[in-house]
Amino acid sequence: MRVLVIGATGAQGGAVARRLAGQGHEVRGFSRTPAAVPPGVSPFPGDLGDAARVKEAFAGVTHAAVLLPMVYDAATVSAYVRHVIDGARAAGVRRLVFNTGNRLPGTVTGVAAFETRRHAAAALLGSGVPTVVLRPPIYADNLLAPWVRGAGVVRYPLPAGLAVPWLPHAGLAAATAAALTRDGLDGATLDVGGPDTVTGPELAALFGPDVRYEEMDVAEFEAGLARVAGARMAAEVAATYRWIRDDFSRAGGPARDGGGFFGTAGDVQERLGVRIGGVRDWVRGLA
Ligand SMILES: NC(=O)c1ccc[n+]([C@@H]2O[C@H](COP(=O)([O-])OP(=O)(O)OC[C@H]3O[C@@H](n4cnc5c(N)ncnc54)[C@H](OP(=O)(O)O)[C@@H]3O)[C@@H](O)[C@H]2O)c1
Repeated sequence: MRVLVIGATGAQGGAVARRLAGQGHEVRGFSRTPAAVPPGVSPFPGDLGDAARVKEAFAGVTHAAVLLPMVYDAATVSAYVRHVIDGARAAGVRRLVFNTGNRLPGTVTGVAAFETRRHAAAALLGSGVPTVVLRPPIYADNLLAPWVRGAGVVRYPLPAGLAVPWLPHAGLAAATAAALTRDGLDGATLDVGGPDTVTGPELAALFGPDVRYEEMDVAEFEAGLARVAGARMAAEVAATYRWIRDDFSRAGGPARDGGGFFGTAGDVQERLGVRIGGVRDWVRGLA
């Protein structure tokens, strides 16, 4: 495959690009500042807002892995998606895998981070470009943020009772590489997740028997994120955590085994034909 990875210098796209290059594919990494593409990936500098540049990036590629950056303005995201569709159509891309960056609620919300990705997924699936949509849950790698783990505590802005199939970036990469090539998946939307679905206290226990879980206040999370990412972006990301918290409380408590916002179909690994690692092994790997 000759694969274009959009966002190849980021945490998610970087993991995808690294995996594909490691499998021996020819990988072109698209981002505005391309110096940090993983080894074996050819940097291709460009901005998703530049239609002509996006088209050049697609020239000659057979497959594409697409992740939209932390931009939640509907018109800007629509333009990015239009440019991707035009580029992929012109190149005759055989399979495009779109990572929504999050699970998406079953009904329309007022949360831009969900709705812009819902529109993007629909546009790509309706574009005529053979597309697979992957909807990840929360990434295990988020647990590396300095504010998450303290002495004897794991803090995260999710309800303690909410069970989450935390997905390591490496698992996303494995799922993406499989979704690019597996037969019979064109038009599919797959909720991917790790095999270990754990509540907050179960997550904390993976770090040690005496480690407890603390639900972080979303406003505190937002204030911390605003200091590094700016108030607007922090508000958009915090809105997703507020929605998840309120949805959990509306549902009246825990749901497991295929239910709830983070429910994962039991056969997703079989459909992709790949083993996806979970948070249990990911935490062990930190030691
Ligand atoms: N589910 C979760 O746990 C979770 C966690 C984090 C993020 N997310 C979601 O994942 C998505 C991306 O998040 P992220 O930014 O943290 O991802 P990321 O994978 O770390 O990085 C984004 C990538 O896009 C590139 N990029 C940014 N703006 C661009 C532009 N205008 N044109 C071309 N390339 C551009 C960046 O490089 P340059 O800056 O060099 O261009 C970088 O390579 C968002 O939708 C976010 O909400 C989900």
